[in-house]
Amino acid sequence: MYTRNLRIVTFAIVSMFFLHSFAENNWNVPADKKARNSTIKFDATTSKVGESVYTKNCVSCHGDPTKGNSLKSLSPVPPDLASAKTQELTDGELFYILNTGRVIMPSFNNVLSEEDRWKIISYIRSFNKDYVQQLSISDTNKSQLVKVDMAFDKKSNQITVTVKANEKTGVVSLKDDEIVLFANRYFGRLQIGESQRTTADGVAVFDFPKDLPGDKDGNVKLVVKVNDDTYGEISRLKTMKIGVPTDIPSMTADRTIWNVLFKPIWIIVLYTFGVMVFGCVLLYLLYSLNRLRKAGNI
Ligand code: HEC
Repeated sequence: MYTRNLRIVTFAIVSMFFLHSFAENNWNVPADKKARNSTIKFDATTSKVGESVYTKNCVSCHGDPTKGNSLKSLSPVPPDLASAKTQELTDGELFYILNTGRVIMPSFNNVLSEEDRWKIISYIRSFNKDYVQQLSISDTNKSQLVKVDMAFDKKSNQITVTVKANEKTGVVSLKDDEIVLFANRYFGRLQIGESQRTTADGVAVFDFPKDLPGDKDGNVKLVVKVNDDTYGEISRLKTMKIGVPTDIPSMTADRTIWNVLFKPIWIIVLYTFGVMVFGCVLLYLLYSLNRLRKAGNI
């Protein structure tokens, strides 16, 4: 009985040890992600940009590469990214780790643009003399294969976004991709609802506000942003007649007060006259002050 218990305890301790070291060391990056290469070429300029992005987002935990000054109070301790262990990872693995994160290591998928994420890797690699970059040529144009469809359902007031890629081997639905929907406004963009993840069929559904103003015909310019690991960041624009028709006079319309093209002559005359009157009053005041001063002197 005693030996049996001992065996169970030993087994438990040994497996815990294995599980722990397994969890610490292995990122279990899927083979296709591991083999992924950057779409931008690493050089001094990309590393420089990468350094500034690193300083803002990573240095607080990982410290300065080669300095070994990472935040030791964390468990696991964030590795020094110039270390041999990190440098052994492929570019694809580094990119994957940046995208997904793990427990304490945050996910930067939605925080940094794809370009910035590769530039950080460029910076991390600049500490490795032996590193030779493998560029991905075929990946660069992959985003062009992606087709984004948008359909509006009047009854539910919802927009259905479908993302597919037309590969030579057939059509692939992009699943579990982050989709963000915006409406273009006069100044900047308005995000519609929360970001969504696509289903296995590459579909994401957004509730569209019922009271969003469009132009005078109700047209709204929509921008949809897709974030896919393989196809990169994709942005598509589509105008849909789904807003509330609103007549906002354009800055060039005749009726606009501050029309940028044409100002009625009377506004210009009145304005010039106003400035001149103000100038004259000012001069008269100065003149009177001077006279007062002279009068006081006598
Ligand atoms: C909140 C602290 C924190 C921040 C911020 C952070 N990391 Fe991490 N990072 C960690 C921790 C902790 C680990 C170890 C995680 C593990 O092994 O489970 C880690 C692991 C990593 C690894 C894997 C290294 C290896 O050898 O296994 C890479 C690469 C990495 N981080 C890159 C970055 C980059 C690049 C940034 C900035 C964009 C960043 N991290 C921001 C805490 C952080």
